[in-house]
Amino acid sequence: MSLAGHRVAQFLRAAFARPAAGDGALLEQHLPPPLHPAFTRLSRAEQAHAVATLRTLLRQGHTDPDLLAAALLHDLGKSRAPLQLLERVLIVLAQSWLPRRAARWGQGEPCGWRRPFVVAVHHPAWGEALVLEARGYPRLAEIVRRHHDPLPDDVRTPVDRLLKALQAADGGLGGELL
Ligand SMILES: [Fe+2]
Ligand SMILES: [Fe+2]
Repeated sequence: MSLAGHRVAQFLRAAFARPAAGDGALLEQHLPPPLHPAFTRLSRAEQAHAVATLRTLLRQGHTDPDLLAAALLHDLGKSRAPLQLLERVLIVLAQSWLPRRAARWGQGEPCGWRRPFVVAVHHPAWGEALVLEARGYPRLAEIVRRHHDPLPDDVRTPVDRLLKALQAADGGLGGELL
């Protein structure tokens, strides 16, 4: 299967995922109550992806509360401009075939045909603002803002180490495509 085909298949699996039994208990345990309404702004597929990201990090033994909350809220910014399935497929294909143009199309306001590209580029910053609005911790907001930022190979700061773990878990689930 080609890389683009693999990405589309990975994306479709994630896009059609639905919340599972036990997700609510994990939410109670790892998301401070004032942030629960923010989580419910995510689509059902995004909620399922967020919980899958959390489960991956827990399996790996991570315990940092901001990292675990970020697993649940890292894509919160997407709730500002929800996308249709076809718009998401368009992003997956464009990011695979025309990554530079996809990044350029992502500048500006989220309207017209560029909307999905703008959401892909700006949802981390929108998510940071929403977390702060909901009175989430600044460290959690920083992780959300930087969840797609490139990191050096030898991460040195504690937050960079958390970001590396989040990006690995998110990427392994096809989350950067959602
Ligand atoms: Fe994201
Ligand atoms: Fe994600």
